[in-house]
Amino acid sequence: MPEVESDVSPPLTVAVVGPGAIGTVVAAALHERGLVPQLYGRTARESLALIADGDRIIVPGPVLTDPELVTDRVDLVFLAVKATQIADAAPWLAALCGPGTIVCVLQNGVEQVSSVAPFANGAQVLPAVVWFPAQAQPDGAVWLRAPARLTVPDVDAARRVADALRGTRCSVDLSPEFASVAWRKLMQNAAAGLMAVTGRRSGVFRRPDVARLTVAYLRECLAVARAEGALLGDEVPEEILAKFQSAPEDLGTSILADREGGRPLEWDIRNGVISRLARAHDIPTPISDVVGVLLAATSDGPG
Ligand SMILES: NC(=O)c1ccc[n+]([C@@H]2O[C@H](COP(=O)([O-])OP(=O)(O)OC[C@H]3O[C@@H](n4cnc5c(N)ncnc54)[C@H](OP(=O)(O)O)[C@@H]3O)[C@@H](O)[C@H]2O)c1
Repeated sequence: MPEVESDVSPPLTVAVVGPGAIGTVVAAALHERGLVPQLYGRTARESLALIADGDRIIVPGPVLTDPELVTDRVDLVFLAVKATQIADAAPWLAALCGPGTIVCVLQNGVEQVSSVAPFANGAQVLPAVVWFPAQAQPDGAVWLRAPARLTVPDVDAARRVADALRGTRCSVDLSPEFASVAWRKLMQNAAAGLMAVTGRRSGVFRRPDVARLTVAYLRECLAVARAEGALLGDEVPEEILAKFQSAPEDLGTSILADREGGRPLEWDIRNGVISRLARAHDIPTPISDVVGVLLAATSDGPG
């Protein structure tokens, strides 16, 4: 277990909204830091449990489920609901946020600020790239499967987030090139969407036809990423493909897990976004357009 500094100065009031897989990891890190995260979710629970590095960390609850029980605004909110759940979580943000609050959004995508700011009551919204895999277990505990790491933009608000998590098992990188980092992660997520289209795991990228399709799709994504200001080289599509091809054949992705679980897919923020933004830049994205339609239909039906 990492060494944790014992004093936290100045003391922060911190809330985690959406204490699922990712929210539990951050809540446990805050708890280890000596902070007392307020937990707000959809399912009432007495506590959270994180399994990491052979430890089982219990984060005292309760997880409250009624936004009317919030008594005060807080300094820092970690928002870890899925992107499809932001509007439903809006009452939490209304109760917890004011102009002095920072909302750190722990979600995939490149649109965290524009999607959360309308609900944030004047708070500053800070996007984060989440690099770690965390999985809910049948008993409700969350299994952290790799070192926890976040990347945030190198701005003042990010220092508050880094301070809150300093010395914990969740490291925070401040990046002056955040847009590039976020777009690279988005391209990885976009390609992973092909697992949800095919209903297959990483092994599917070893098929030569899927490999060619993936690179062509990622070249479209790259053009859009660059038009949006990301600095990414020509090699990125092949690098992302190579990563999937060298992964264990049975490695999945959360959008595939959501498909298998019959839950709504985060298709719009992971895949649909590419065609949406491409239109604004007049960039043709024929592959992205097809992938987006197939994922939208897979997610939302009807039928
Ligand atoms: N898990 C990963 O390994 C991973 C890795 C990188 C990025 N991400 C991204 O991180 C984000 C969070 O993913 P996740 O895997 O942590 O999802 P998750 O496990 O489904 O967690 C979401 C949590 O939000 C709760 N919630 C739903 N609606 C709510 C509402 N209206 N108010 C308060 N809480 C609400 C859910 O409650 P219930 O328990 O009732 O469902 C659940 O506890 C996603 O954008 C995902 O793509 C995840």
